[in-house]
Amino acid sequence: MKLFSQTHVGSFALKHRVVLAPLTRMRTEPGNVPGDLMIEYYTQRASEGGLLITDATAVAPLGIAYVDAPGMWTREQVAGWKRVVDAVHAKGSLIFVQLWHAGRQAHAANTGGLTPVAPSALRSLEHAAIRDGQGQIVEAELPLPRELATDEVAAIVEQFRQSAMLAKEAGFDGVELHAANGYLFEQFLLDGSNHRTDAYGGSLENRAKFLFDTLDAVVEVWGPGRVAVRLSPSGTYGTMSDSDPHATFGYVAGRLNGYVLAYVHVIEPRIRGIDEREAAESEVSSKDIRRVFKGTLVAAGGFTRESAEQIVIDGHADLVAFGRMFLANPDLPERLRTGMPLNRYDRSTFYGGDARGYIDYPFATSRVSARQTADAATGEPA
Ligand SMILES: Cc1cc2nc3c(=O)[nH]c(=O)nc-3n(C[C@H](O)[C@H](O)[C@H](O)COP(=O)(O)O)c2cc1C
Repeated sequence: MKLFSQTHVGSFALKHRVVLAPLTRMRTEPGNVPGDLMIEYYTQRASEGGLLITDATAVAPLGIAYVDAPGMWTREQVAGWKRVVDAVHAKGSLIFVQLWHAGRQAHAANTGGLTPVAPSALRSLEHAAIRDGQGQIVEAELPLPRELATDEVAAIVEQFRQSAMLAKEAGFDGVELHAANGYLFEQFLLDGSNHRTDAYGGSLENRAKFLFDTLDAVVEVWGPGRVAVRLSPSGTYGTMSDSDPHATFGYVAGRLNGYVLAYVHVIEPRIRGIDEREAAESEVSSKDIRRVFKGTLVAAGGFTRESAEQIVIDGHADLVAFGRMFLANPDLPERLRTGMPLNRYDRSTFYGGDARGYIDYPFATSRVSARQTADAATGEPA
């Protein structure tokens, strides 16, 4: 299969094209620090010559939307991530960290009481995951965010630079900027959520300034071939809208050609956040980005073994990221290569909790993790 032919990301050689999509699983230790559970989870999914992308990892307390999501702003977080990275490297896989700022998707319960910030004081109608007084994880309405002052935007760019430096210390192979799914970069980029009149609002160039200023800073830290950007050009998750997505994302894709990136990662229109939806042919997809962006492209969103192979054969993408299927199948690349049946995923354990639905999905082969139980996951079909 073409999915199992060699390729590269930056100057790294890969043995196959099946990528672990970034997945928020809300299983850190206190302090938003990756611990043993996360080490086991990523180690299970690492394969020789493969590429893993981490959970969305906040660059600052204000960037956190979900309780027990990881961070990259303290020494403890760096030390925790280093243990993950070392374990993944020992299995011969690459690992990129997805750096994240939630903007208006954050909730004061997860930010140490700070009011969430956004380009404009416009609310998202999604929900945050917070811990209630009894310690239970519950959904909470998102508050009205505070509009960022102009100099505060430049300060967030610096937080990304700092976080990118810490990611380097942790030993990651590269960094993916989370400019998808309704978080802070996208809030600036789309005109439905950005009503600013300063240098970060109005024209397309101004709305893209926060993303490209950050990209400049992070590329300065990491150099060529080590930085990636994730986009959801037709995504509506996070109450997102834009008056002309083709123009917006055509412009962004064109400017990304000015960098030597590891890859650009595009979520297909058939996915909204983590759910399938009806998408029109006319919506912006990886094909549209491919026409403009000349570098390595990773496509994600609702792929099967067959459609992943087809998009690589057609040349519309170089690699394919899998989310729900990879969380339920720790040995997904091997199962896809050999055509083995897949475990089903259990939606009830996606976010938060313990080892269940996290590191106990069975391997198809005898390479079974010591901590794995014999229980097959149950739930919805994958
Ligand atoms: C539990 C869960 C958590 C997710 N967390 C993230 C995240 O942290 N960052 C991100 O960019 N996308 C996130 N996504 C979206 C996935 O990366 C992916 O785009 C989506 O699941 C569609 O791909 P799939 O059909 O292969 O699952 C998440 C999806 C799921 C199911």
